Formats: sequence, structure tokens, C-alpha cells
Amino acid sequence: MQPKAIILDTDPGIGSPGSDVDDALAIVLGLLHPGCELLGLTIVAGNVPLEEGVPNTLRLLEIAGRPEVPVVPGAERPLLRDPRPIRELMASRRRQTVERFWDLPPFAPPRLSAAPGRAAEFIADAVRSRPGEITIVAIGPCTNIATALLMDPAVAASVAEIVLMGGAIRVPGVVTPAVEFNFGYDPESVAVVLASGAPVTLVPLDVTTRTFMLPEHIERLAAVGTPLHRFLAETSRPWLRFAMAVRELRGFWLHDPLALAYAVDPAILTLTPMHVAVDLGGELTAGQLLGYPESGRFLRPAPGPINARVALDLDEPRFMELFLTTLG
Ligand code: BDR
Ligand code: CA
Repeated sequence: MQPKAIILDTDPGIGSPGSDVDDALAIVLGLLHPGCELLGLTIVAGNVPLEEGVPNTLRLLEIAGRPEVPVVPGAERPLLRDPRPIRELMASRRRQTVERFWDLPPFAPPRLSAAPGRAAEFIADAVRSRPGEITIVAIGPCTNIATALLMDPAVAASVAEIVLMGGAIRVPGVVTPAVEFNFGYDPESVAVVLASGAPVTLVPLDVTTRTFMLPEHIERLAAVGTPLHRFLAETSRPWLRFAMAVRELRGFWLHDPLALAYAVDPAILTLTPMHVAVDLGGELTAGQLLGYPESGRFLRPAPGPINARVALDLDEPRFMELFLTTLG
């Protein structure tokens, strides 16, 4: 079977104290899965600022022995919004998390360098050069994707699929009860992607919060014993302690690996076509995703036609099997 050509757009916190590590697990899944031709990793500010996300990614590729994969820096800030309020909230949580759960020394700077150019151009050039062939999987705020679509509207017609991890439709968010992180960080970019006419698939918290990296999974990774597996296990343990103590979960959520896994094995998710709208106004609701799965259910009709396929259900055992077998 021909591997799928994928650009993974990411905001990897791995190596940064107090940050989610799931982007790194998605990257490694993309590096190791035979069904994925990873064309490049484009970096966006989100979980961590760009100046941390780029070296975090380069360090991961160095440890994985995959220096040939291009790492292309992208947006340093959301399309329109001032990122300072959300960054302040994150900095304060980071301080508390680091104090209570982190026991890792700082990592050495990577020896690899970033590729020349910027993420949005890289995405637009790649998609235009292989019409209908490239899937974009965005597992951070989708600023780079929106920028590529605004720069070159032909991208919408040429891309095979845009998979966005983000939003929450029938479950609570994590930024506020209504808002998931990636969509809350840059809501205007979500609106641009949804309005572009590109084939969009959404992987919201509705499905990602049904996936767990359990303590025994981390120890299984550690037991593989390669430098990459030891690094993943070492960096995952503090985030696991945070998820168990503060979020009272039995493991940490595998949001981003689920989005990548869907791209290589679509049967993992059940998709419902619907109109989705993103709220841009409210202080506590900007970034909230509103889904209109059934026409006629609401007094006020959907504000537009079907613009996305949304994952509301998943085959969790199938996902975990793919994830653990590929990584392990
Ligand atoms: C998203 O936010 C980040 O913490 C994760 O990496 C994921 O992309 C989930 O809300
Ligand atoms: Ca992410």
C-alpha cells in the first residue's frame, strides 16, 4: 500500500517543563508508521512559544535518528488575537506543575538546524506541487494552515484533507468549560479554515478524551530501551503525574496521536458531516465549537452548509493497538 503523504503541523512541548507531551508521541507515530510519508514538521506557537517548539522538535528528530525530516518554523502568534492573556494563564499553571511534578534536568540544545523558509509557504508549495495527494494534520493552533489558505486560496482545492485536532462539541473544554486549547488559542484561524471550502475533518475532545496513555504503557515504552523510547518515557512520566493528580485521570489523553492515527487508518474514527461554527466573540467562549449534526433541531437554523466531518465516536481498541504496536 502507498503511504499517505502527510505534513504534520505541531506545537511540541516535549522537553519544556510543565507542557503536554502528546505532540511528540504523534510525531514519533508519524516517523515510525509505514502508512505515513512524513513530508515535514511545521511548527506553530501554542503549547510552547515558537522558540521552544522548534528546538524541541529538532531534539526529538536527533534522538530518533531522523535528521532528514524538515522542521519548518511558522507563526509566532495567533492570526489576530493577542496571545498574552492565555500565555499568562499557561505560565502560572506551568509554575505550579513544575513545582509539584517535574523532576527532569534541562535538555541540551539540539545540533540539528531548522529548514529555511516559513511554514505557510512550505505548506502551500507542497500542496500545490502534488494536487490531491497531501493530507495536513494540524495538532496545535491552526495558524499556519489558515495563513497558507489566505496566502494561496488554491490550497483549499488541492489539499487531500485537513485534519484538525481541536474543539469540544458535547464534552467540556479545558481552557473554559466551553473551549478546547488549540481552538481557544487562535479562534480566527479555525474560522478561516472552516470557511475555506477545503475538506476538513475535526478530531475534538469528544473522542480524544476517551484515549489514555496509562502508567503501564509508559513503562512498556521504557522497556524497549532505545534512546528514543527512553526519552519518550522519561518526558511522559511528569506529565502523567500531573494528569493523574490535577485532572484526576487514570492516564494522560492522547489527543494528537489520535489525529495522526486517523490519517493513516481512517476506520479508527466515525465521522459525522455537519456545519460547524466557531465562536469569536465571548471572553469565556471565543474558540467554542458549535456543531449542527441534525438539521431542524434548533430554533435558529445552522448558519451555513456542511463544512466539516466531525469525529464523535472512535474505535478505541483499534487506535490503541495501532499506537502501541507502532511505538513499541
Ligand atoms: C490540545 O492541546 C494541547 O495540550 C495538546 O497538545 C493538544 O493538541 C488538546 O486540547
Ligand atoms: Ca498539540
